[in-house]
Amino acid sequence: MQKIIQPNNIEVAASLLKAGEVVAVPTETVYGLAADIANPRAVMQVFATKSRPSNHPLIVHISNTEQLSKYAINIPDYAWRLAQQFWPGPLTLVLSKSTRVGDWVTGGQDTVGIRMPNHPLTLKLIELVGSPLAAPSANRFGKISPTQVEHVIAEFGDSIHVLDGGHCEVGIESTIIDATEEGACTILRPGMINIDAIKAVLGSNILVKEPTQHSKKVSGTMQSHYAPHKPTYLFNSIDELEAIIAEHNVNIYGLILSDEYARLCEQSYKMSSIPADYAQALYNALRTADNSNCNIIVIECPQMSKNWAAILDRLKRSTYKSAVSC
Ligand code: TXA
Ligand code: MG
Repeated sequence: MQKIIQPNNIEVAASLLKAGEVVAVPTETVYGLAADIANPRAVMQVFATKSRPSNHPLIVHISNTEQLSKYAINIPDYAWRLAQQFWPGPLTLVLSKSTRVGDWVTGGQDTVGIRMPNHPLTLKLIELVGSPLAAPSANRFGKISPTQVEHVIAEFGDSIHVLDGGHCEVGIESTIIDATEEGACTILRPGMINIDAIKAVLGSNILVKEPTQHSKKVSGTMQSHYAPHKPTYLFNSIDELEAIIAEHNVNIYGLILSDEYARLCEQSYKMSSIPADYAQALYNALRTADNSNCNIIVIECPQMSKNWAAILDRLKRSTYKSAVSC
C-alpha cells in the first residue's frame, strides 16, 4: 500500500486511525505521529515507533474548543483566554486531566497537554476520526523534528503512513504552558508564541513564570534534544569559528546568517534574519547539513532577544553534546 496519503484521500487516514493504526499527520509546527487517544494499543505503538520512554506524556490534539472541557477539568479563566486568542495555533496548555484521558496518553500523570493545531487537514482528520489524536513529533526520540513528508519518511521509512500536508509553516514545536495553577502560569517549553504575546493576553493579574528545575518535566526540555548525528557547534564570532576550524580540520557545513562566514565553510545554508523564517527553515537546514558529506556542523548564533528565544532554545539543545558557546 502507498504510504504517503494525499489530501484528497484523507478518509483513508481516518479509517487507519479508527482501526488503531499510527499515522503521521501535518501540523503548522512539525509533523506528529498520531493515534486515537481512546485506543491504548495504538498509543503504545506511538511510543514504540519513536523509541520514547512510556512516562513521557503525549499532547492531545483537538479540533474544537468544546473538547477542551471534555478532556480537561478545573480550567482557569486565563487558560480559556489563551485558547481563544491562540487556537488553532502553536500553543499547548497543560491542565488537570478528565477521566476521559487514559494513563496511556499522559504517562501516568494527572495532567494533560492539549492543543488545537492550525492545519486544515489535521483539524478535518480529528473530526472524521471522531476522537482527539495523541501525537508527539514524528521523529525518533531525541532527534530532529520533521517539517516535511520527506523528513518523516527519512525517520521511519515505509513502516508508517503519512498524510501529506506540505511544509509546516511555523517549523518548531508549540509553546507549552502549565495552566494548572490559578493566578499564575509557567512556560514549560518556549515556542514562537513568546512570553510577551502571552503577557499581552493575560494582563498584569496573572503571573507568567519561566521554568525552574522543579517545573514539570518536558522531554523537549532535556539538555540534549533535536540533535543531528554529526557534531554540531554554535559560534558567535569569526574568532570562535576559526577556532573550531583549527581544532577539527575537517569539512564544515555552516548554518549561516552573515555571508562573510560562508566562505570559511565547505558548504552552507543561508538562514534568514527574520525569526519566523529562520524557525520555518531550521529543521530542514539541520537535516540537510546532517545528510551532507561534511564532518561537522557549525551554526552562527542569532542575537539574544525575546523573538529569538525559542530558536536559541532549540539551537542550544541540538548542540549540547558538542559545545555550547552562546
Ligand atoms: O508542536 C508540537 O507541540 C508538536 C506537534 C506535533 O503538535 N508536538 C510535540 O510533541 O512537540 P512532543 O511529544 O514531541 O513534545 C511535547 C512535549 C513533551 O516533551 C512532553 O513531555 C510535554 O510536551 N508534555 C505533554 N503532556 C504534558 C504534561 N501533561 N505535562 C507536562 N509536559 C507535557
Ligand atoms: Mg518532540
